[in-house]
Amino acid sequence: MDISALIHQAEHTHQLEREEIVALLGDDRHNDELFAAADRVRHRYVGDEVHLRGLIEFSNICRQNCLYCGLRRDNQQVSRYRIEPEVIIEFAGKAKEYGYKTVVLQSGEDVSFDVDTMRHIIREIKKLDLAITLSIGEKSREEYAAYKEAGADRYLLRIETTDKKLYEDLDPGMNFENRLRCLRDLKELGYEVGTGGLIGLPGQTLASLADDILFFKNMDADMIGVGPFIPNPDTPLRDAAGGTFTLSRKVMAVIRLLMPDINIPATTAMETLDPNGRVLALKSGANVVMPNVTEGDYRRMYALYPGKICINDTPAHCRGCITGKIAGIGRKVSESHGFRTKCLQR
Ligand code: SAM
Ligand code: SF4
Ligand code: FES
Repeated sequence: MDISALIHQAEHTHQLEREEIVALLGDDRHNDELFAAADRVRHRYVGDEVHLRGLIEFSNICRQNCLYCGLRRDNQQVSRYRIEPEVIIEFAGKAKEYGYKTVVLQSGEDVSFDVDTMRHIIREIKKLDLAITLSIGEKSREEYAAYKEAGADRYLLRIETTDKKLYEDLDPGMNFENRLRCLRDLKELGYEVGTGGLIGLPGQTLASLADDILFFKNMDADMIGVGPFIPNPDTPLRDAAGGTFTLSRKVMAVIRLLMPDINIPATTAMETLDPNGRVLALKSGANVVMPNVTEGDYRRMYALYPGKICINDTPAHCRGCITGKIAGIGRKVSESHGFRTKCLQR
């Protein structure tokens, strides 16, 4: 296949067939062309502003047992914590002071944060005129509805992989159909929906990654976050090879070509594999960064994978650091809440 022609086609029509995506992902001779095309599409559709979302990792307690994740319930090596609701609200207030327009509340599936507790946290943070993204896993439709009604704006729930068998092998006790049900419910309830996946899971093929990309396009997700799977020594996948920075960056760039107007984060896991990972991602299609605003030792304890960045840094330091990186590539931190603006094809 003529890879340059495929990149050109994708840049201008935003369409690719499954086999074309596989060919593109499997060929490393045209990577710079791919990244440059994704950068142009990003510029044309979502502009030069970068949206910052302040990430609060409020509990590392999880009832699930995903084989790849350091927070899985069987991992005895991690010290567990949950942050008190009033402290979470205080962290959100500080995020606002640092100039963030959105906070992302992320945790393991910790059932002690029941509906009333979450509603209280959401309502209090909404008073600060911040957009709220939740990333707290699989819940019932009624719970999602209650959080929406309380003021939550967005929800992040990665499908992880659209290969049902792989998903269910890697997430024992979880059910692929239920994950899809969650994404459907979130959309119907009016959330901006973010999803995404892990790159480099054991047994994952390029064809499977192409299916993931087409799934994202088909469901018209508002935000797609992809990042390398990084093996954690305290999990059953400790000896797996893991994903590479380059393949993750390529998947992200293809997503930008096919979904020109969505929000795409430069993920933390990408920077873990390459010290300049987020800047390279921002130059290959990404337009969002999620700096950590969690304080103190919690950052280290939210140990999904080894080598996580910023574990010894303060929220103030990260704010300055990321602003400098964004300015350094001639981009600008957005002053808006950063909702997706759906565009007609340009
Ligand atoms: N519990 C919620 C969930 O699973 O949706 C939210 C928190 S979970 C820690 C957030 C994301 O971390 C997951 O969607 C997964 O893709 C990512 N993650 C977990 N383990 C990882 C690893 N070893 N390498 C890279 N990313 C990982
Ligand atoms: Fe829990 Fe999410 Fe980690 Fe799975 S990925 S073990 S649900 S925190
Ligand atoms: Fe945390 Fe750079 S963003 S140190």
